[in-house]
Amino acid sequence: MATFQTLPGFREFYPEDFARRNHLFQLWRRTANTFGFAEYDAPVLEPLELYKTKSGDEIEGQLFSFTDKGGREVALRPEMTPTVCRLVGARANALKRPIKWFSIGEFYRYERMQKGRGRCFFQFNADIFGEPGPEAEIELIALLVQCFSAFGLTESDFYVRLSDRNLWFYYLEALGLDDVRIRAVLGAIDKYEKMGDDAFKDYTAQFGPIDPALKAKLLHFLGLKSLAALEETLAPLGGDKLQSRLLDWRKLLAGLQAMGLERFVEVDLGVVRGLAYYTGFVFEAFDRKGELRALAGGGRYDDLIGKLGSPSLPAVGFAIGDMTFALLLEQRGLMPNVVQAPEIYCVIGGESERKAAFGDLQALRAAGYRVDYPMKELAFGKQFKAAAETGAKLALIYGSEELAKGVVKIRDLTDRSEREIPRSEVLQTVRDLLGGG
Ligand code: HAM
Repeated sequence: MATFQTLPGFREFYPEDFARRNHLFQLWRRTANTFGFAEYDAPVLEPLELYKTKSGDEIEGQLFSFTDKGGREVALRPEMTPTVCRLVGARANALKRPIKWFSIGEFYRYERMQKGRGRCFFQFNADIFGEPGPEAEIELIALLVQCFSAFGLTESDFYVRLSDRNLWFYYLEALGLDDVRIRAVLGAIDKYEKMGDDAFKDYTAQFGPIDPALKAKLLHFLGLKSLAALEETLAPLGGDKLQSRLLDWRKLLAGLQAMGLERFVEVDLGVVRGLAYYTGFVFEAFDRKGELRALAGGGRYDDLIGKLGSPSLPAVGFAIGDMTFALLLEQRGLMPNVVQAPEIYCVIGGESERKAAFGDLQALRAAGYRVDYPMKELAFGKQFKAAAETGAKLALIYGSEELAKGVVKIRDLTDRSEREIPRSEVLQTVRDLLGGG
């Protein structure tokens, strides 16, 4: 008999897995709400055109795309950014600024499978529109950090590498490079960490061997790890653009420092981000041990809304992926066992006791308690075993003797203490013992 399996890289969520996924989503959602971000969603299937040239060659090569029955070229979304730009662009004038939006959704990329990378994955996306200054980056990096801290992760577990495509541009311009060469150098820098000198192959193919003096300057710039070091290197170069960009850096880092977040953030010009649309500050989150692929990535993309045909609007945002994030939580012992156990298990003597039990358990459920019971008649022993296995805190015992007296037994399943209570007091007793309801 043929057995069907999931497609490579696609995931099924059994209840334990779904509970973990929910745990991530709930804390991310709650955190975004505390920062005043509003939630939105959009289609998973989009016109292929939306990603062509906008997202960049790497993502374009990974698209799940096909022609639909109406002859349209379509693609499963590989990321949210072009879509959210369309949403915001279409209503830009009506939306109150700054526009702070987030979403949680599934994305699809035909990637080579490896630890922490699949062909479908979830992302938490957060973006701010309409704010040109580094105030938006401060707010987003603060949100990113809090989305990690909310799970108990600390600065010894993760950090954010902060870089700047503008600064690279202005620096390379000051060194005398033209636009085409600058792009080729940034392409090499993007790969340098992984490939070393081989990263310059494309540059060499285009322009011949790289001048050793230029290369030394690039590697020096790559190694700068603080604002003070950046200022020291850039001050002698002068130039209004470079100097005013350093002011933005100062503002951004001062804002993060005032929030007590500087310990999470490291200046690191090795990050330039592969996606085509980034224009300014870019950042990526990694685990401190350096064992996992990127946990999150983002940056400023002031030109994308304009490229999609709406009046241009400054924008900056990031996305956290669920797969590497879950691995990090598990490695640090911070992934709770979060399948929701019932709070109360009803142990029911026989068919005639079922009626009384059903009345009570419905009332308890309506009051908000999680209540379970055996579907079929079972010996008492088996029911207690089942009650213990579910992890319930309380058992309510509906035996014929108890009901004849107008009472039920309530048993604390942790310490096994037991007492009888009048049936009319079941809800109140549960409230006293468990709270809420
Ligand atoms: P990205 O760096 O391509 O950025 O993805 C962000 C995060 O999504 C990654 O750091 C990673 O955790 C996760 N991710 C990406 N691809 C995969 C995969 N194949 N399997 C598992 N996880 C993956 C973006 O997508 C930008 N659109 C983010 C953004 C939002 N920029 C501005 N706003």
